[in-house]
Amino acid sequence: MPLTARRSQGLKGRVRVPGDKSISHRSLILSAMTVGETRIEGLLEGEDVINTAKVMRALGAAVERKGEGAWSVRGVGVGGFAQPQAALDFGNSGTGCRLVMGAVAGCPVTATFDGDASLRKRPMKRVLDPLTRIGARALDAAEGGRLPLTLQGARDPLPIEYTPPVASAQLKSAVLLAGLAAPGQTIVIEKEATRDHTEKMLTHFGATVLVEPLGEHGRKITLTGRPELSPAPLQVPADPSSAAFPLAAALIVPRSEVVLDGVMMNPLRTGLFLTLREMGADIETLSTKNDGGEEVADLRVRTSSLRGVDVPAERAPSMIDEYPILAVLASFAEGTTRMRGLSELRVKESDRLAATADMLRVNGVGVEIDGDDLIVHGKDRAPGGGVVATHMDHRLAMSALVMGLASEKPVGVDDAAFIATSFPGFVELMRGLGADLS
Ligand code: S3P
Repeated sequence: MPLTARRSQGLKGRVRVPGDKSISHRSLILSAMTVGETRIEGLLEGEDVINTAKVMRALGAAVERKGEGAWSVRGVGVGGFAQPQAALDFGNSGTGCRLVMGAVAGCPVTATFDGDASLRKRPMKRVLDPLTRIGARALDAAEGGRLPLTLQGARDPLPIEYTPPVASAQLKSAVLLAGLAAPGQTIVIEKEATRDHTEKMLTHFGATVLVEPLGEHGRKITLTGRPELSPAPLQVPADPSSAAFPLAAALIVPRSEVVLDGVMMNPLRTGLFLTLREMGADIETLSTKNDGGEEVADLRVRTSSLRGVDVPAERAPSMIDEYPILAVLASFAEGTTRMRGLSELRVKESDRLAATADMLRVNGVGVEIDGDDLIVHGKDRAPGGGVVATHMDHRLAMSALVMGLASEKPVGVDDAAFIATSFPGFVELMRGLGADLS
């Protein structure tokens, strides 16, 4: 499904992007581990999350769609998953897969995990290592511990203390979800704090989770095992990682003014907004409120003259999914932008470090990879004219299309289909603002 973006003028309007992907996955998985019914509003109905809903059904939870974004989940309790009858298919989603690996690791069931060609390339050993210490066993896995793999959950899971070797919310969450079924305290030590949606939602459902600061950027998370999780309603706020695309388009398309409603402002997710303000972006917070335990804000964005900046490595966990779109914005900024410490980008839906550099290169932008850093040499307008290989990666597709809305020549993508994994309705929403996409 190829698509092309052409130079547009004056994006205008007020929009709300779909629900947060991280919170949507967690709301299905964690409510399936409660006893009773949880009502969810604002669930992201993208392909990744729908796959997680199907997997929860295969594991014995009753999951029903009640209306647009409105879902009901009847859980089976901690340790209560049923033996699935077929392989669990996570499609494109690393988050769904890794979190469910954790949840299954604490139950006496055996499940086969599988996904699409992109997910089959992604590292799973990082999750299997701590889950094995908890007592789960990988009975079978493709080379390097990759999918498809079969995991036998622990009959008597052990509580562990674990320091992830990489900053990863998926890895942390997998360990915490496995630790739910273990007696005593499961401890995760993060050298760099990552998104805390699992910790917050576990607390929401009645678990005892102690979060203590550790050093300058770290955290110690202590979960008391074997809680009885009780259902409680959930409201999913708008995804800041999806909001990033219309927001970026408004910054670089001349004479634009766009309002984004209800964007989640969890401080572990807002590194992009901080960086853009340093670059001179005109992003005004119109109002803020608390929505389902998260601060959300309405943001007004106007076309801005951007300047290059140096983005420190410590900021990466709070904007890990936003580097492709930041690289696009850096192409339209005066001067050089250096984004540091991006090794984790190599293991996303694609090798996002290489693919982001290629996206800029085929569109005439000066770009270099120096170790784990991405360096972009900006001008006030990117040349464009390229067709971007998206490698089954939704964020690359959306980033490239945003670029084409403001570059001199059009920008094409080879395949826009994967946008539906995280942002159904992206093309229609952007067209509604005035974007030329066809
Ligand atoms: C996510 C964590 C991040 C992020 C992904 C969603 C999550 O992955 O890139 O899109 O919901 O926990 P890592 O844990 O691999 O950094």
